[in-house]
Amino acid sequence: MIKLHDKYFKPFISAQAIDSALAKMADEIANDIGDEIPVFIGILNGSFMVVSDFVKKYPKPCEVTFIKLASYEGVKSSEDIQRLIGLTQDLSGRTVIILEDIIDTGNTLAEVHRIFKNENVKVLKIATLFYKPEAYKKDFKLHYVGIEIPNKFIVGYGLDYDGLGRDIPEVYQIKETQHMTNLVLFGPPGAGKGTQANFLKGKYNLVHISTGDVFRYNIKNETALGMLAKSYMDKGELVPDQVTIDMLNAEVEKNADANGFIFDGFPRTNAQADALDKLMDSKDSQINAMIALEVDDEILVKRLLERGKTSGRADDADEAIIRNRITEYYNKTAILKDYYTDQDKYFGVDGVGSIEDITVRLSTVIDNL
Ligand code: IMP
Ligand code: MG
Repeated sequence: MIKLHDKYFKPFISAQAIDSALAKMADEIANDIGDEIPVFIGILNGSFMVVSDFVKKYPKPCEVTFIKLASYEGVKSSEDIQRLIGLTQDLSGRTVIILEDIIDTGNTLAEVHRIFKNENVKVLKIATLFYKPEAYKKDFKLHYVGIEIPNKFIVGYGLDYDGLGRDIPEVYQIKETQHMTNLVLFGPPGAGKGTQANFLKGKYNLVHISTGDVFRYNIKNETALGMLAKSYMDKGELVPDQVTIDMLNAEVEKNADANGFIFDGFPRTNAQADALDKLMDSKDSQINAMIALEVDDEILVKRLLERGKTSGRADDADEAIIRNRITEYYNKTAILKDYYTDQDKYFGVDGVGSIEDITVRLSTVIDNL
């Protein structure tokens, strides 16, 4: 994710995808035109990169020139097109191909047609790398379209947001929702974390990232990170935090549209909490709260023994083991409670009561963040 001025943008079209689209357009155009020498006209400023890369791919001799029009203010196209540099050569009888970076409403294109109305060119064709069909309001034919995209503002590869972003070699799309609510969910075994996480993700449009699930997924699918993690596990060693963080990073990036995340099972140490803070910071986000479900030990033991009767989980069947797991949980998480308390981000929530009651308590905390 990148930030230009006040807005966030997420990766959208790779440099490689752009390259193939341009190569395809260059071939198509060369085939259609035959041996004639065309004049390619770029519309400045946005098209400087398209034109430069396109003509390098064009397999035959050609001429290149530019006109300069301006229409955009911020992230909105305007009707009022200014002609800043017009045509500077006689094009009568020539085959002219307009090379656009992007066609949005088509206002700019209307101005291009006005400019060429009395030029007596032999052929006027329109080629554009990007095209937003949902935004297009005109009837002019578009002869060559590289990539159709949804009606969302993009930057990079010549396209700017208030002057910034033109230099980026790939294309980013505006991110309309930011990661607003990022929670670390804690609770001893049997506290009802899973049940509540499930509910919260629906209500707040959050993505539930359970470290255990992420590990299993990466190992099962033999991703590079999964194989790396496995190599440590096979040796009986702990997976380094960085590997886990890299996996979480991939999960966060996969879900750029989410309102936020529920982290479950991570962090477990101060170092991991630090690493998670850094990860969120690199996404212009932050952990907003650690929410811990608090349930009295005796109740937990009862719940887990109850669950053991039906779940068949061996570690839910033996009271001594259950008590041990609970003790371990408190030993391990005490440090994290301090970590988040120091940042005023620790919220303990009473985890005893009906599912609905607990849900209401959690929502109250989140709504007040
Ligand atoms: P149109 O006149 O609405 O078709 O818009 C054409 C011009 O607006 C393009 O040449 C760009 O300069 C600018 N534009 C349109 N959409 C975008 C976008 O998503 N990002 C950046 N600039 C855009
Ligand atoms: Mg333009």
